[in-house]
Amino acid sequence: MVISPRIRNNICLTAHPEGCAAEVKRQIGYVKSNGPVEGTKNALIIGSSTGYGLACRTAAAFGCGASTIGVFFEKPGSDNKPGTPGYYNMKAFDAEAEKAGLYSKSINGDAFSYELKQQTIEAIKQGPGKVDLVIYSLASGVRVDPADGKMYRSALKPIGKKYKSRALDTMSGRIISMEIDPAEGDDISDTIKVMGGEDWQLWIDTLMEADVLSEGVITTAFSYIGPEVTTAIYRDGTIGAAKKDLEATAKRIDDQLAAALGGKAFTSVNKALVTRAAAVIPAISLYISILFRVMKDKGIHEGCIEQMDRFFRGLYGGELTVDAENRVRMDDWEMREDVQQEIERIWQIASDDNIETLSDIEGYHADFMNMHGFEVPGVNYEAEVDPS
Ligand SMILES: NC(=O)c1ccc[n+]([C@@H]2O[C@H](COP(=O)([O-])OP(=O)(O)OC[C@H]3O[C@@H](n4cnc5c(N)ncnc54)[C@H](O)[C@@H]3O)[C@@H](O)[C@H]2O)c1
Repeated sequence: MVISPRIRNNICLTAHPEGCAAEVKRQIGYVKSNGPVEGTKNALIIGSSTGYGLACRTAAAFGCGASTIGVFFEKPGSDNKPGTPGYYNMKAFDAEAEKAGLYSKSINGDAFSYELKQQTIEAIKQGPGKVDLVIYSLASGVRVDPADGKMYRSALKPIGKKYKSRALDTMSGRIISMEIDPAEGDDISDTIKVMGGEDWQLWIDTLMEADVLSEGVITTAFSYIGPEVTTAIYRDGTIGAAKKDLEATAKRIDDQLAAALGGKAFTSVNKALVTRAAAVIPAISLYISILFRVMKDKGIHEGCIEQMDRFFRGLYGGELTVDAENRVRMDDWEMREDVQQEIERIWQIASDDNIETLSDIEGYHADFMNMHGFEVPGVNYEAEVDPS
């Protein structure tokens, strides 16, 4: 079939297998162009199919030459319906790893479940052996907790009072005003349940118990803080509460791994980017579009792969910015004073008349399309492709 983009409410319902494969190859090419890294040998990436997790798996395999096991939850394509982008990314990744003689095992299923954790342990035992790096890069709106069988949903809401802000409708390019009612009922605790640290801790406990973590193992999960203009909806909102829980969990896992295996755990605060998870946070779109413009103009813009490549090189022998809370700050360039001051200035004057030049709607849109395998240079979108 011929696959075209179908977009509803900022969500793209289709994905192009060849465009996704081309994107995966581009990421691999970027990592390789920066030269090899002496780092992880065996890496487990939980949430490896898109966004930051895909970039980590790519940096581990094609930068460090590591064997990788990737865990993700994606829909395969069928004869007449495309699958999700992450499904095609992982197919392409496995094919490229095989060509390069690298061990790679992809596991598609619910990472929150006990079964998938056991399946992963079996794969580690039968495959590369004990892992020295565990990246936890899940982003999900729902979690079925295997302990009680209940489904929890995360919410993107402010806490205490209504959030009122301007946002960018990236499809029409117009500035809209939006209001989001404050969290109510179990919104906060449910969001912590889905996006907080509980499942990361469960993974580490299960992997330790099965004795599949090596001496000196490192584990990391990703957090976000962001600027003043998004604080009420992000850092001080329901998702921020989950991120604070994740950061507190890092401290506990760090103590646990240090005592048992001389290992360490920490969170990395990453830069705001257009990923499948971020695309559904509309209030962030105006900020991200201006951020991209400012960082590109200053020559310091990074996408997922540029940032995770820098992270891996810093982690293994280079330098990383670490704050007083022991968080790695990959958002160091985003949060630079000159960058934030310029965003603040643009934020004040942005209107429908000038937003196209003062922000990078084009770059935002391109990233959004590319991550679904569309508008990728060199791909023939008129041609028939097999979605399965
Ligand atoms: N995107 C940003 O701007 C940004 C910034 C800072 C931190 N982060 C954090 O980085 C992490 C990764 O986010 P992302 O933006 O790369 O997201 P993403 O949507 O691109 O990737 C999420 C991954 O999780 C997997 N996943 C979701 N539910 C799953 C399940 N039940 N079982 C197995 N796999 C599942 C998906 O398959 C995918 O591989 C999140 O913790 C996010 O909060 C994101």
